[in-house]
Amino acid sequence: MKENFSHYPNTRMRRLRRTSAIRNLVSETSLSSHDLIYPAFITESEESEDIGSMPGTQRLCLNDLLQLAEKLVSLNIPAIALFPVIQNEKKTVDGKEAFNSNGLIQKAISKLKSQFPELIVISDVALDPYTTHGQDGIIDENNYVLNDVTNETLKKQALSHAEAGADIVAPSDMMDGRIGSIREEFEKNQFHNTMILSYAAKYASCFYNPFRDAVNSKDNLASGDKRTYQMDPSNSDESYREVSMDINEGADIVMIKPAMMYQDIISNIKSKFSIPVFAYQVSGEYAMIRAAADAGYLNHKDAVMESVLSIKRSGASGILTYSAIDIAQWLSE
Ligand code: PBG
Repeated sequence: MKENFSHYPNTRMRRLRRTSAIRNLVSETSLSSHDLIYPAFITESEESEDIGSMPGTQRLCLNDLLQLAEKLVSLNIPAIALFPVIQNEKKTVDGKEAFNSNGLIQKAISKLKSQFPELIVISDVALDPYTTHGQDGIIDENNYVLNDVTNETLKKQALSHAEAGADIVAPSDMMDGRIGSIREEFEKNQFHNTMILSYAAKYASCFYNPFRDAVNSKDNLASGDKRTYQMDPSNSDESYREVSMDINEGADIVMIKPAMMYQDIISNIKSKFSIPVFAYQVSGEYAMIRAAADAGYLNHKDAVMESVLSIKRSGASGILTYSAIDIAQWLSE
């Protein structure tokens, strides 16, 4: 902490706030399109569909996904994170569609990489879009999500994404040891440069609900929850253990999620560890701002910009946000 001994009237804090020119010169944080990652939902359907719980977003068909990618590139947004919407017929108890080399996500990755090689493609590693029960892993007879058994499938899923050309795989499942298993699998298969973005401190949050609606896993999950693997929102120290484990196992980047309500965690992790920290402004955080703006209670642009600037100020260098396109457009105005 820097010491500061200031007394009025020698010190008038308002001098540095008087005009926008001086405010800009002393500004400590700025947002750029280079900080943004756009999370996109993709569907096997012929046409894109609106997502009711997240106004302004869509489940994208392959053609629209490619158009979106073009837009991201033109707006200098460097990365896209992909989330598949899987038809119920393809969901199973063991979620084995997750590593189908001809699956929706694998095809989307290779299409994107062949048409937009400069766009960073991040793929979600977790089984929830693929399981009949909506859990991120494989369950036993008591509905308990099995750790080591799940890791075996996650490993295959991650490898199938790397083979399709993903630049970064992002395990969001919160099993113990999965970063190490995936890293080992990648090294064994010569994917030395495929990065791992670990959802290291992912909290069991109610703010994921609109996402579960978007990927059609809400009904599957029904009354179940994810509290035996995602973190308890009351804990902070525990995030250090999660992050240090993932770094030791070979994570390249760690993520904190949700973002807005967990800025203390982002800030702590940023100051304790020398690894890039990303944050995810999740579906419920997006929906909340959007609903307030649609109701006329908040100005949409101001609320989005302040929320994302704050996430950056707290220490995140990359931010996943469903508002990425709006932000990049506003920044270029
Ligand atoms: C699932 C996953 C979730 C999100 C990203 N990956 C939901 C969950 O854990 O239930 C949430 C993202 C969001 O809410 O925007 N592995």
